[in-house]
Amino acid sequence: MLKQKPLVMIPGPTPVAEPIREAMAVQTYGHTYGGFVAIYKECLAGLKTIFQADHVIVVGGAGTLSMEMALVNTVKAGESLLIISHGLFGDRFGPMAKAYGIEADVLTCPPGERVPLPEIEAKLAAKKYAAITLTHVDTSTGVLGQAKEVGELARKYNTLYILDGVCASAGIPEPMKDYGVDIIVTTCQKAFGTPPGLTMVAFNDKALARREELGAVSGYYTDWKNWLPIMENPALYFSTPPVNHIVALNESVKLILQEGLEERYKRHERIGRSFRAGIAALGLKPVTSPEALAPTLSVITYPEGLDDAAFRAAMEKYDVFVAGGVGALKGKIFRVGHMGNICINELVVTLYAIERALTDCGITVTPGAGVGAAWSEWHKG
Ligand SMILES: Cc1ncc(COP(=O)(O)O)c(C=O)c1O
Repeated sequence: MLKQKPLVMIPGPTPVAEPIREAMAVQTYGHTYGGFVAIYKECLAGLKTIFQADHVIVVGGAGTLSMEMALVNTVKAGESLLIISHGLFGDRFGPMAKAYGIEADVLTCPPGERVPLPEIEAKLAAKKYAAITLTHVDTSTGVLGQAKEVGELARKYNTLYILDGVCASAGIPEPMKDYGVDIIVTTCQKAFGTPPGLTMVAFNDKALARREELGAVSGYYTDWKNWLPIMENPALYFSTPPVNHIVALNESVKLILQEGLEERYKRHERIGRSFRAGIAALGLKPVTSPEALAPTLSVITYPEGLDDAAFRAAMEKYDVFVAGGVGALKGKIFRVGHMGNICINELVVTLYAIERALTDCGITVTPGAGVGAAWSEWHKG
């Protein structure tokens, strides 16, 4: 019997489109082979366009490594870092800073809410910070950070601005120059829609000048200065790049640029809105406050009495995978990623599976309501 293809709607890894899968499956090139060098260069040039970046480093790893690379190269032991945290991934900068002897102040708020801008400004006005971090979308709470507004504050108080784009890049605008972002740290398995395995850091000349000013840093694989010559000329060697991943990422970058950045961001906004219309029609609510809803994922509160494990097991029966909660929200919510190379079709299947799973778990819903509402919202454009 033909096995149903599972639909992975967790907030990363996301479904991998056919051209990216095919690119991933090419016969592995030697990493200094001219054909591969050209692909690596093309990929880096495309990423610079997406982020308005002066420099981009793409190496084997994941999102956490990119966060670490940003800290290692721009903040030294004893200096202060201001972390704006909207959940588990914002918090992650704390222990990371500690590991390098960096003093971290963390601004937090209740799950699903945003740290108010005046609180951020008060901190920046009271103390000199070497850098400030913001998680563009915290995947644990679904909170969309105020990337542009924080950029204005970072400029005003002359601090380096690190934006964690892991759950946003390629799905939500991140124009570094327009927003005043100095460093974007990100990865490939979410809105880029590539299998996990790459770390990406985009930065400007100001961040590079900071790296130069630091002299020696507490890292080797993470030291930008070891990688920058390779990014200029990938025929050189520092450490073997994940060849197939880079070929796949280049395919993803080409798809993004072919779709067009504005079009792509608009599609994500439309997908987010349509999905949320669908869950509302099923009687479900996001945990995230309305002004902070992210286009890339939804974090949905369980109705009273609905068991996390039972619900997600029921979803799996319909071959649709969603994620459970992490951190403070474990057991209280489920998370659905709706980013990358997906469209209304995936939402329809997901919402149908949610409807079936809720019914299996004894929750009464109006049949077809979720799919119908999402479909109508989508067709508003
Ligand atoms: C916002 C955010 N930052 C950082 C990370 C860490 O990325 P990785 O798991 O690729 O190390 C994640 C992972 O989901 C994330 O969602």
